[in-house]
Parts: sequence; C-alpha cells; structure tokens
Amino acid sequence: MEVPIILYGSSSLRKHCKEVNDTDDVHQISRMLLETLKKAKGIGLAAPQINLIKRAFVIDTSPLNEDDLAIEKFEGIFINPEIIDIDSKNIIFREGCLSFPDIFEEVTRPEKILVRFQDVLFITHEEELDGIKSRIFQHELDHLNGILFIDKINLINKKLLTSKLNKIKKLSKNQKNQQYANTI
Ligand code: CO
Repeated sequence: MEVPIILYGSSSLRKHCKEVNDTDDVHQISRMLLETLKKAKGIGLAAPQINLIKRAFVIDTSPLNEDDLAIEKFEGIFINPEIIDIDSKNIIFREGCLSFPDIFEEVTRPEKILVRFQDVLFITHEEELDGIKSRIFQHELDHLNGILFIDKINLINKKLLTSKLNKIKKLSKNQKNQQYANTI
C-alpha cells in the first residue's frame, strides 16, 4: 500500500520515534515503506515520513544501480537501528530527501559505520557499512531522532534555501488538510 510522504514543515518529522516491538505489525510497516519508496523512486524512507512515529526505515539502492552498475543493489528494512561505532574519516556527499522535493545539498558524515538493527523477525544483526549504504543509513537514522539533513548543511547554504523551504512548508500545510488513511 502506497501512502503519502510527509513534507518538511510537518511536526511528524521532528519527533523522536518509538522502538518497534512485537505488538507492531512489522510486515505491514515494511510493505508500506517499501511500496511508498518504490513509487517515489527514492533510495531511502523512514517511518516518520509516512506519519508512523516508529524506529524503522527502508533502503533501496536500485534507482542508483540503474545509473551506475558499480553501486551495489540492495533492498531491505532496518528495525530499531543504531550506530555502535563510527570511523574517524568523514566524507562529503550530496544528499536529497523525499520530504524535501528538489533540494540537494552537500552533507559531511563518517564514511564507515558499524551498525546494529533487527529484521522483520526481530533477529538482531551487526554489520559494517560503507559507501552509499552507510550514507543512506545515517540519513534515515537521523529521521528517527527528528533530525533532518538541512540541519547539517552550512548556514550560508541554508539561508540560500529559505524561499525553497518556505514553498515546501506551504505544500505541507495543504497536505495536513488531507485525510491520512494509515491503518497502523
Ligand atoms: Co530523508
């Protein structure tokens, strides 16, 4: 089931999300996130972006793999994700976000991370991530703590975005007036 993606300006994007537990329908959360992400042709989507204040996100690198075969094709859900170690080396990468249509900005983040997360069966995994997967993981994990990528760009660049951001906020207000049919 595809659902609307919450735009910048909504308070949902600033909430600290709650742990997912076995009373949650993780299969449905997973399906909603993946189907919505695929329709939007994005590479990552966090639960608060579809108005679910839960600690879960999905990654799908296939839109990037279509342009560059060197990029590993990966699709998956991360439940209760956390970063348990970071490498000291930082890199700059141009990020976008489905809650910020048409905005792309350079963000500095660690290149490699060690992560822990659960799958849909609540089995815990630990994995070392680098490259695009590491980058998306960090961007999406921020969403679960109410942090957005524009919080991480330099102030001058942020100033230059003011009118674009105000336009998105306006769209977000209109969106608020629509009915959401989330069933979880
Ligand atoms: Co995002």
